[in-house]
Amino acid sequence: MVKICCLGAGYVGGPTMAVIALKCPDAEVVVVDISTARIDAWNSDTLPIYEPGLDDVVKQCRGRNLFFSNDLEKHVSEADIIFVSVNTPTKTRGLGAGKAADLTYWESAARMIADVAKSDKIVVEKSTVPVKTAEAIEKILAHNSNGINFQILSNPEFLAEGTAIKDLFSPDRVLIGGRETPEGRKAVQALKDVYAHWVPEEKILTTNLWSAELSKLAANAFLAQRISSVNAMSALCEATGANVAEVAYAVGKDSRIGPKFLNASVGFGGSCFQKDILNLVYICECNGLPEVASYWKQVIKINDYQKSRFVNRVVSSMFNTVAGKKIAMLGFAFKKDTGDTRETPAIDVCKGLLGDKAKISIYDPQVTEDQIQRDLAMSKFDWDHPVHLQPMSPTAIKQVSVTWDAYEAAKDAHGICILTEWDEFKTLDYTRIYESMQKPAFVFDGRNIVDAEKLREIGFIVYSIGKPLDAWLKDMPAVA
Ligand code: NAD
Ligand code: UDX
Repeated sequence: MVKICCLGAGYVGGPTMAVIALKCPDAEVVVVDISTARIDAWNSDTLPIYEPGLDDVVKQCRGRNLFFSNDLEKHVSEADIIFVSVNTPTKTRGLGAGKAADLTYWESAARMIADVAKSDKIVVEKSTVPVKTAEAIEKILAHNSNGINFQILSNPEFLAEGTAIKDLFSPDRVLIGGRETPEGRKAVQALKDVYAHWVPEEKILTTNLWSAELSKLAANAFLAQRISSVNAMSALCEATGANVAEVAYAVGKDSRIGPKFLNASVGFGGSCFQKDILNLVYICECNGLPEVASYWKQVIKINDYQKSRFVNRVVSSMFNTVAGKKIAMLGFAFKKDTGDTRETPAIDVCKGLLGDKAKISIYDPQVTEDQIQRDLAMSKFDWDHPVHLQPMSPTAIKQVSVTWDAYEAAKDAHGICILTEWDEFKTLDYTRIYESMQKPAFVFDGRNIVDAEKLREIGFIVYSIGKPLDAWLKDMPAVA
């Protein structure tokens, strides 16, 4: 029986290991974490993350061949294959602050593996890391001088939150990078054998270590770039009367471009895109490629522009002031089907409107009040000038309330901002909502999910990203 241990029981480690345990009943899989609270939650009926289908997979394997534990050293020392899936956030201090990946967690995981290993190990980079990280990890592991052979593999994860189980069940590809030596090839084969339990052979790609590491950063950069491209077009559509949905459809019909990931929005969020592009930018700068660095940086700048354009549109539509006006936020998570709020555009939109003294009422089916308060209280990092800006003042935060009902959030509001594309927002009773709101009543659809024409018939003034503007909005052009 192959013994697998995963360091890091987060959004990647938890679901990925649960699926490996399900598909490989002949393997023992233990997920370990330094956080006791996280492990306790994985062992409880309320898992620490919301992900469709995850409960079912965990229920089938937990206690059989899937275990969650805080005893890191025991399980690491017993394992044949160790996945490292710890967080790799952007550095906030010191050299490379605001861009470089913070590898503190990774390094401490590697040192612990070196300290406790008593037999040969395959160490798998599951976290997204800068290209050449494997070389640094090899150096750390080499300090264990008990004649142990460590093979490092890069096996980046491509799952998206909200569809993690589906993505893990049928991935577009599994990528494994390893050393081009007999030992390296043997390790690659051992990991291939794990995935081959359910992933067709032709979808398991093998490359050298650096290609695998860089492919992950490249894939996220390309995906984010598509969103910034369509969002840049959305601004031009609003200025010209074109409709971004029609433009995206026509563009995506070109088989060389394809239809996916072309939905204009209030901006992309999530823990990966911004962090990984900043990391790419830093790597380019360190390799003397400033033009390449500034090319990718622009993807983030357009994303920031899109978020502030949205805030400006809300304020300018309401006679250039939202002071004292209640604005309802429908959705706070960075996308539907997750409770994750990391880098969600909702944070920037709320902060922008609070800066203009709005009163905000938030409803999201999966995000708790505590989480929202924490997110809004967090100080915003200025990526170009890495010093922490002032956090929101307690007075501003008092202007925020959180409800467990969309109708309650919208009651007496002047406007509604749709910030997450939850399906339930498509079928709300907008007539009832309209009747409960102040007039004129506005809907600012940051995800283009509502039927704007129907809402206009009810009486709303509707702004949809990148769509032709209502006469009202045309008369009050937003200052970008
Ligand atoms: P996360 O913050 O949800 O989980 C990371 C976990 O690692 C935490 O629970 C933390 O307590 C634990 N940890 C930190 N140091 C540890 C140590 N030394 N030993 C054991 N546990 C430790 O992060 P995540 O979203 O799961 O992301 C993990 C990695 O995967 C990141 O590099 C991320 O870029 C990458 N990734 C994330 C996604 C995603 O959708 N979230 C997708 C693909 C790749
Ligand atoms: C992303 C990558 O898709 C995944 O492969 C990688 O492993 C981790 O990072 P994730 O951040 O979980 O996954 O979700 P994703 O579906 O990529 O969405 C990211 C953000 O882009 C969300 O805020 C989403 O709403 C936004 N988005 C996505 C758009 O605005 N328009 C689109 O067309 C697609």
